[in-house]
Amino acid sequence: MTLGVLISGNGSNLQALIDAVNTKYLAAQIGVVLSNQDGAYGLNRAAQNNIPAKALVKSDFVTQDEFDDALINELLEYKVDLVVLAGFLSILSARVVNTFKGRIINVHPSLIPAFSGKGFYGKKVHKAVLDYGMKLSGATVHFVDEGADTGPIILQEAVVVEESDDLDSLSQKILTVEHRLLVEAVRLFAQGKLTVDGRKVKVL
Ligand code: GRF
Repeated sequence: MTLGVLISGNGSNLQALIDAVNTKYLAAQIGVVLSNQDGAYGLNRAAQNNIPAKALVKSDFVTQDEFDDALINELLEYKVDLVVLAGFLSILSARVVNTFKGRIINVHPSLIPAFSGKGFYGKKVHKAVLDYGMKLSGATVHFVDEGADTGPIILQEAVVVEESDDLDSLSQKILTVEHRLLVEAVRLFAQGKLTVDGRKVKVL
């Protein structure tokens, strides 16, 4: 199974996938890594592992359609079976989502539907969790539909928010869970163990 991994920054979730492939825990290969940000460190991680990688920056394209064409063409060229949004901080257009319907997975650093959707990404999520005084947060891996963080949930895991937690400690605790959950979800997909019935994802 060939993965197409979309990133925007550091790429620690990408690294978790790279490690899982390299140790053969994940029976897949990463065909291509695409970033919507120039200079994303995740592009270096791909290069270090001889994985084709490139930046597709929206501002380099005149229209959204042209950007979507470029993104879809890259994914088709590398014969991607599953698109993985790994710290990808942009909402895919409906055309992209429908081209890979049921074959796009995203990881989000909260227990969706809490602290998710438009504007909730990266550390903004954890700041809102701490400001609210939450006792629990966590990570979610879900299938991507046309909404923002609204697709059927595959895996979730809660993380206790300690009184001593700050933005850095909470985001690090949750990132560790994201890495593990994302690899597990991709592995289940690769093994054909995920079925979707409306909003419900069943793990066989
Ligand atoms: C992190 O905030 C993570 O929670 C979210 O994207 C951000 C960067 O992840 N999914 P990564 O290190 O680039 O994978």
